[in-house]
Amino acid sequence: MKHLIAPSILTADFGHLEKDIQMLNTSSADWIHIDVMDGVFVPNISFGFRVIKTIKKLAQKPLDVHLMIIEPERYFTEFRDAGADIISFHYEASVHLHRSVQMIKELGMKAAVALNPHTPVQVLENILPDLDMVLIMTVNPGFGGQKFIESSYRKIRQLKQLIIDRKLEVIIEVDGGVDFINTAKLVEAGVDVLVAGNTVFSAPDPIDAIKKLKIV
Ligand code: DX5
Ligand code: ZN
Repeated sequence: MKHLIAPSILTADFGHLEKDIQMLNTSSADWIHIDVMDGVFVPNISFGFRVIKTIKKLAQKPLDVHLMIIEPERYFTEFRDAGADIISFHYEASVHLHRSVQMIKELGMKAAVALNPHTPVQVLENILPDLDMVLIMTVNPGFGGQKFIESSYRKIRQLKQLIIDRKLEVIIEVDGGVDFINTAKLVEAGVDVLVAGNTVFSAPDPIDAIKKLKIV
C-alpha cells in the first residue's frame, strides 16, 4: 500500500487548535496522530479526553491515538467514547497484552502495540496475528522534535520480514524524528504510516510539508 501520513498534533498551536485541525482536513494527511502522556510512563503530560472530543468534532480524518500511559486498559472505553479510531498502547506499559488487544477490538477500534527504542520486535511474535498495526518508536517517547534513532531501520526490516513470513496484514507505523530526508528510506524498509510532528507544524507551509512527505 502507498504510505500514509499521520501528523502529530503535539506540536500544533493549542491556542488555535481549530485552525490546525481545519488545515489537516484540507491537507493530504491520512490520519491525525494524538499523543496522550501521563507524566509517569513518560516525563511529560499532554492532554486528555475533553481535548480529544473537541478534535473529534472538528476532524474529518481518523484519530490515531497513541497512549503513553501506564495501565492503558483502564481507559480504552473512554478513549473510544472520546472519538479514537485506532489505539496504540505500549508493550512496556502493559502486562496482559492479548487481553488489551481484544478489548480494543471489541470496542470497535483498530489495535496497535507500540515499542520503545530498546524493545526488540521479537517480543511481539506471538501476538502479531491479533494486531492491526505495530508502532515502532524512533525516538524515546515524551517529546516532539527529537533526533531520529538510526538503529530503527534494522528493527523495521526485522518486523517487516516477520509479517511477510507469516503472511499477515499488520501495518507498520513509525513515530519520532521523521523528516523529508529519512522518509524514503523508512518507506523502503517497510513502513506504512509515518507520524510527523515537528516536520509538519514547524514548516512555513504545513500543507506543502505533508504533500512532500507523501510524494516519496
Ligand atoms: C513522541 C510522540 C510523537 C511526537 C513526534 O513521544 O509520540 O508522536 O509528537 O514528533 P516529531 O515528529 O517532532 O518527532
Ligand atoms: Zn506519538
